[in-house]
Amino acid sequence: MIQGRNRKWLILQGFRRMRYNCAFWAGEPNFMSNLIVLGAQWGDEGKGKIVDLLSEKFDAVARYQGGHNAGHTVFIGDRKFILKLIPSGVLRPGVLAVIGNGVVIDPAALLSEMQGLEEAGINVRSQLKISNRAHVIFPFHRTIEKISEGRDNRVAIGTTSRGIGPCYEDKIARRGIRIADLVERNFEEHYRSLAEDKQLIASAFNISERVDFDEILAQYKQFAEAIRPLACDTAHLLNRMIREGKSILFEGAQGTMLDIDFGTYPFVTSSSAAAGGACTGTGVPPTHIDGIIGVSKAYITRVGAGPFPSEDTTELGDKIRIAGNEFGSVTGRPRRCGWFDVPLLRYTAEVNGFDSLVITKMDVLDELDEIPVCVAYELDGQRTELMPASTSRVSAIKPVYERLPGWKQSTRGVSRIVDLPLQARKYVDFLESKTGVEIGSVSNGPERNETMFVAGSKLEKLLR
Ligand code: GDP
Ligand code: IMO
Ligand code: MG
Repeated sequence: MIQGRNRKWLILQGFRRMRYNCAFWAGEPNFMSNLIVLGAQWGDEGKGKIVDLLSEKFDAVARYQGGHNAGHTVFIGDRKFILKLIPSGVLRPGVLAVIGNGVVIDPAALLSEMQGLEEAGINVRSQLKISNRAHVIFPFHRTIEKISEGRDNRVAIGTTSRGIGPCYEDKIARRGIRIADLVERNFEEHYRSLAEDKQLIASAFNISERVDFDEILAQYKQFAEAIRPLACDTAHLLNRMIREGKSILFEGAQGTMLDIDFGTYPFVTSSSAAAGGACTGTGVPPTHIDGIIGVSKAYITRVGAGPFPSEDTTELGDKIRIAGNEFGSVTGRPRRCGWFDVPLLRYTAEVNGFDSLVITKMDVLDELDEIPVCVAYELDGQRTELMPASTSRVSAIKPVYERLPGWKQSTRGVSRIVDLPLQARKYVDFLESKTGVEIGSVSNGPERNETMFVAGSKLEKLLR
């Protein structure tokens, strides 16, 4: 019989094998957890794919912030969906899709997205509910954004030009219009008040852009008819579901580094993309959240302007862009590409409290001879692992890299982590040990079945 340390070692190895042998979790859909899935970097981490995959196990998927600035891509076989406002869970029949109060809604964009999904055979109207507390985007929000982004002597944020920021401005300034106002009889009263406000500001600042407020009013009255049957108190709906033992998946848009408070301000979006936003953006209290899952690429990208410490502007960055098809799903803009940033991930893990990480797009690194990983920052000649608050400080960061050997073979089609090439497994282990966050899943392709789960992981337990 094997005794002592050897026996312990063998048992440990047995556990490790079991852990790495789990190809895909295959539990029953009768668990009770409410989980938040959100971006751990600057957006486009593959949240849509992961939410779609996990949503099978939930009764509802709720979006809590952002608007149609998001583009969440889901592949189901050879069918491609890009979800913008509507939660990715809508692609699963029977799963309730909820647009929470923290989201800003452009009715034209919403109705067009609904139409696209209906044409693809999705029964959107029977699955979708919209918070009557969500705020409404108007065409003049886009006009304001265009003026603000385009003015002289301003470093543009490089927004998606969807009117997101100006709509949130009206919300915080307490003059915004909510879905409840849109679908009520006195919508015109609310609208005229907002329009007057905008006209006053325009004349005070000598802005000559023409806006046809009456035409917008007529158009929005029509939108109201289409939206009214879907609008309700979704906070009450979600909390009631939870009381009945049902489970909710909260879908974040953008990423923590674009969060209005924790991102690289002012190069951020205007909402709370971090985990806290899931509660304020849906009305589900923190006491009902059972787990928080961060989604991160095996490298990193950013769309739009702003500091990006581990950006690779060489040919290698271009190679990643091509291999990863890194072009914005909303605006088509090329995404800036760079290397996995450990201090950044540790920071987003801290402010979100990640229980587990999903690492996506491992396959994009398949061809590389070696893979740089930013393990620390150098600022004023000092090594640090902390994320500075000011833009100028983040811009001054010099990344400190460790270079890991590549695996130089395709990982597509691999369905168990244990079957990944050795160097790929070492890469995952390295990220796990450096970030201090469990890696519960690795994605090696855009399809649902191109996702590996780590047996015995916290993630697996949360999904049970
Ligand atoms: P999201 O905004 O976080 O939902 O991400 P996007 O949909 O904007 O961008 C992620 C892109 O990567 C999409 O085109 C996905 O289909 C694709 N994708 C997701 N996971 C993987 C993966 O593991 N490998 C590859 N090659 N593509 C992936
Ligand atoms: P998903 O959900 C990546 C970026 C814009 C810009 C900044 C502000 O698909 O990950 P905004 O229009 O929101 O005022 O733009 O935020 N941005 C995103 N970048 N993915 C997104 O969403 C984004 N949504 C906004 O490029 O830099
Ligand atoms: Mg996206």
